Amino acid sequence: MLRVAVIGSGPSGVYTAQALVGQDAVPDVEVYVLDRLPCPYGLVRYGVAPDHEKIKSLQHNLRTVLEHPRVHFLGNVDVGADGLGPRELRRMFHAVVYCVGAATDRHLGIPGEDLPGSHSATDFVSWYSAHPDAADGRFPLTARSAVVIGVGNVAVDVARILARGADELARTDVPQAALGALAESRVEDVWMVGRRGPSQAKFTTKELRELGALPGADVLVQPGELALDPAYGDPSGLPAVNRRNVEVLRGWAEGEGTEGKGAEGVGEGMGQGVFGGRRRVRLRFFLRPVEVVGDAESGVRGVR
Ligand SMILES: Cc1cc2nc3c(=O)[nH]c(=O)nc-3n(C[C@H](O)[C@H](O)[C@H](O)COP(=O)(O)OP(=O)(O)OC[C@H]3O[C@@H](n4cnc5c(N)ncnc54)[C@H](O)[C@@H]3O)c2cc1C
Ligand SMILES: NC(=O)c1ccc[n+]([C@@H]2O[C@H](COP(=O)([O-])OP(=O)(O)OC[C@H]3O[C@@H](n4cnc5c(N)ncnc54)[C@H](OP(=O)(O)O)[C@@H]3O)[C@@H](O)[C@H]2O)c1
Repeated sequence: MLRVAVIGSGPSGVYTAQALVGQDAVPDVEVYVLDRLPCPYGLVRYGVAPDHEKIKSLQHNLRTVLEHPRVHFLGNVDVGADGLGPRELRRMFHAVVYCVGAATDRHLGIPGEDLPGSHSATDFVSWYSAHPDAADGRFPLTARSAVVIGVGNVAVDVARILARGADELARTDVPQAALGALAESRVEDVWMVGRRGPSQAKFTTKELRELGALPGADVLVQPGELALDPAYGDPSGLPAVNRRNVEVLRGWAEGEGTEGKGAEGVGEGMGQGVFGGRRRVRLRFFLRPVEVVGDAESGVRGVR
């Protein structure tokens, strides 16, 4: 009998286990899925946004795999710590597959990045996802403006959670402490800042559109800034996802309004989109952060 250890119980680990017990070239493979956390499913449980219920429900499919009679889940096993390393694993198993994800942050490498009030997305997401590593974390949302650096899907998640009302999140599995802080949040403006142009943004169109559909928030773009992108005028040569992103952004810039709201006004030189929402998501492009401004005592005051 072949015994295989799979390290990590996120989707890659669980689908590896599924493939191992599903193949018939080597019969009766026994799979042990080890995770440093007590609960399985990796970022599906502790990263996918709580208001993305459909993706979160993938946990049910993953659970079916872990309930297979030849798959065993062992939580609270931190490989690399407590004397359990690759050598020990190779003594116990015929093969070891590492599916440990990418848990560490990337740093901007700019002055002020470590000031109070400047956080990695990992920390913020872990907080609203009840990740065991964030058990003591707190985010008192006392600032009026929040700046999210990056225009990928994690940035969209973070901006959306900041822009949503706590009542909209109450029916999700956001932990109570985070829900309480979100209910008292003073944040009114959420800036999403991309260092490249709209045609190079990493978010996917479905996620971008979701921002425009938030009931209590408006999305603002700067038409002049979008037009700096050579592909903005004619996006036909772009890959489909980038083309669709540009089309959504152009729709907002030209006043089609954020989804379901209709266009009614122009706000502060920011293009269309002032529809009376309590909060605003402001998308900016071609801006590279060079400094987080502030001091150790009062924390972040701005981003240059
Ligand atoms: C904030 C965020 C939101 C996302 N939302 C979506 C979404 O809505 N839709 C979508 O399609 N994708 C989404 N993604 C991407 C998706 O979550 C990842 O692509 C996917 O989870 C990667 O799977 P994985 O198994 O490689 O890693 P992970 O899901 O990170 O799983 C890795 C597992 O390995 C364990 N592990 C790590 N080190 C050790 C160790 N030393 N010993 C034992 N175990 C260990 C971890 O505890 C974890 O359980 C999101 C990503 C992020 C960061
Ligand atoms: N479907 C969903 O709802 C969902 C939700 C969350 C995550 N995900 C997936 O999870 C994966 C990870 O997402 P992600 O958003 O973390 O990564 P990502 O898609 O790579 O986006 C990272 C963003 O950060 C920017 N960035 C990186 N370093 C920077 C720097 N030094 N200065 C300024 N900007 C910087 C990038 O700009 P450049 O492009 O210029 O480098 C990019 O806009 C992706 O596959 C994503 O689709 C999916």
